Amino acid sequence: MSKPLNVGMIGYGFMGKAHSNAYATVNHFFDLQYRPVLKAICARSADKAKSFADNWGYESIETDWRKLLERKDIDLIDICTPNNTHAEIATAAAKAGKMILCEKPLAMTGPEGLQMVEAVEKAKVPNMVWYNYRRVPAVTLAKQLIDEGRLGRIFHYRAKFLQDWTINPELPQGGAALWRLDVAAAGSGVTGDLLAHCLDTALWLNGALDSVNAMTETFVKERKHNLTGKVEKVGIDDAAIFMGRFHNGSLASFESTRYARGHKALYTFEINGEHASIFWDLHDLHRLQYFDHRDQGIVRGWRSIHVSDGDHPYMGNWWVPGLQIGYEHSFVHQVADFLKGLETGKPAMPDFRDAYRTQLVLDAILQSAREQKWVTVARG
Ligand SMILES: NC(=O)c1ccc[n+]([C@@H]2O[C@H](COP(=O)([O-])OP(=O)(O)OC[C@H]3O[C@@H](n4cnc5c(N)ncnc54)[C@H](O)[C@@H]3O)[C@@H](O)[C@H]2O)c1
Repeated sequence: MSKPLNVGMIGYGFMGKAHSNAYATVNHFFDLQYRPVLKAICARSADKAKSFADNWGYESIETDWRKLLERKDIDLIDICTPNNTHAEIATAAAKAGKMILCEKPLAMTGPEGLQMVEAVEKAKVPNMVWYNYRRVPAVTLAKQLIDEGRLGRIFHYRAKFLQDWTINPELPQGGAALWRLDVAAAGSGVTGDLLAHCLDTALWLNGALDSVNAMTETFVKERKHNLTGKVEKVGIDDAAIFMGRFHNGSLASFESTRYARGHKALYTFEINGEHASIFWDLHDLHRLQYFDHRDQGIVRGWRSIHVSDGDHPYMGNWWVPGLQIGYEHSFVHQVADFLKGLETGKPAMPDFRDAYRTQLVLDAILQSAREQKWVTVARG
């Protein structure tokens, strides 16, 4: 008999859908003791919440997240709202004794993130942050190959996340669909939005970053603000590039931008070790490129591993070998691991503290760009 786990989700946008789909799917494909129940969706507009609830099968709606936290029939709060709301909701949810799954980036700043970490650790509530790319099977396989020592000593970690959707200077900032351009809602631009993903993966695969030297740029300096109707200064970074040093001695080279015409979500990383290299590309997410110098010379070359076999991470739970899965499955895997963690007592990562470490790198990048100097990354 599965144990119901009642979910109260806040926010019904992009991530609201991705998470709802994951809760609805996970028990069909993974053998788990817990079974998420779509108990309540919370949004400020009752009409929109109702229509989302009807579409996804939520049993009830709330229009104020504080009411949702008061409900005894809610076990888990899922925060799918813009970045400036994460801290207030999460600290209150921890006080209310709820489990918390929070979207990334954890917080607006490191100090805010630390308050959230302290709140969940004090309340001893299970917590996790939705850095979902760790659970793309090809990325999980990269972790496995690195942990097996196949790459040997790591020399380089290179990552980029490129988009092109904010080039138009007429695009306003702020409000429902455009909160990412409003520094008051987002905290930062591509640093917190895109680099955060690259960093979570990097810290997981390659360990801590010791120091960074960054530059950022805001190409469009003023935009109309949707909430005030006035043309206002743009406070976010449109592009961020940094180099850095990992604790293991390898060199970091990272770039993220929303001004790379032609690229929609080109997240790639390449890791070069003494024996082997790995390359991954979100646009081809089910493949892992692998080069091993120890192969016999005449057949040595980049292998394109189609990560779809039964012994590849997570893939034994899906279709038959050769049939691939997609973006949405990374969220299903994350829920599966979270639920397994509840079952076994070995929590799934990244938890709030782990995501706080990423937040500290984000802070260091922004500080370095502001002060135009190398910055040592604080340890979390
Ligand atoms: N893991 C990922 O890959 C990934 C991808 C996209 C977004 N995100 C993160 O998810 C979060 C949400 O992003 P999104 O793309 O889903 O945004 P979105 O704009 O699509 O949706 C945000 C939702 O929050 C609601 N909302 C805003 N303020 C609220 C409040 N005070 N109370 C209740 N509801 C409120 C909005 O009405 C909307 O339903 C952000 O933190 C973002 O960084 C993560």
